[in-house]
Amino acid sequence: MRLGIISALHEEQQGLVEAMQSPYKLIHGMREVWVGQLWEIDAVCVLSRIGKVAAAMTATLLVEKFGVTHILFTGVAGSADKSVHVGDIVVAESLVQHDMDASPLFPRHEVPLTGISHFASDQTMALQLLQAAGDFLDTELATTIDVQERAVFALQSPRIHRGLIGSGDQFVGSRERIQALGEALPGLLAVEMEGAAVAQVCFELGIPFGVIRTISDNANENAATDFMRFVKSVAARYAFCIVRQFCRQLGAGVQASKVSAGM
Ligand code: ADE
Repeated sequence: MRLGIISALHEEQQGLVEAMQSPYKLIHGMREVWVGQLWEIDAVCVLSRIGKVAAAMTATLLVEKFGVTHILFTGVAGSADKSVHVGDIVVAESLVQHDMDASPLFPRHEVPLTGISHFASDQTMALQLLQAAGDFLDTELATTIDVQERAVFALQSPRIHRGLIGSGDQFVGSRERIQALGEALPGLLAVEMEGAAVAQVCFELGIPFGVIRTISDNANENAATDFMRFVKSVAARYAFCIVRQFCRQLGAGVQASKVSAGM
């Protein structure tokens, strides 16, 4: 297994490169790509930058040039449902490009000539991410996030959700827009700008993938206020701890299968 880890922003991947064993950096396609081991797992870390094209290009690069076998996307998202609060975690079960619309030639949201609008993430990876996120909230949240930051962002007891994430080339920052998206896409939990593009690339290349997002805002008029503060002081810590837990679980699984194979 070789795990590709993508985030859109530097802050969302803070600490991971520093945690890598024997890391080396390659520059390709205007991106710094870090190759090494993370908690015994062969890993490649890269920033995609923001948006669907940037994310699709990065995912393709990881598979075609760096030989990754699995892709994990971590980052932040805006809430698209009133049950999903700032500080909660959403693990994608499926992803849709909410701004894809080639109607009337093709149904709204369908990626033309694929027949697909909702791309399913890998079930095993989704379960592993749910487990890693649960372990993080149960055992590390209180010690990892500064008490003042927890108060500022009202992080009393964050929850984990699993469901539909919508991606589009738009930072959603209005009540009307997020409501309209929710009405057009039943079950929509969160919006961001990359996940569904990675999902399409992984579907077309046959690569299992997972997407996990920390909710940074409510995709309304206040969405951009304190956004970077949240990313730095909360989401960066979530992502680091969850990826560490995820890799440790995978490492333990690899060890167990070596033992049972007598290696
Ligand atoms: N990522 C985090 N918040 C977002 C929002 N409101 N819209 C799009 N992407 C986001």
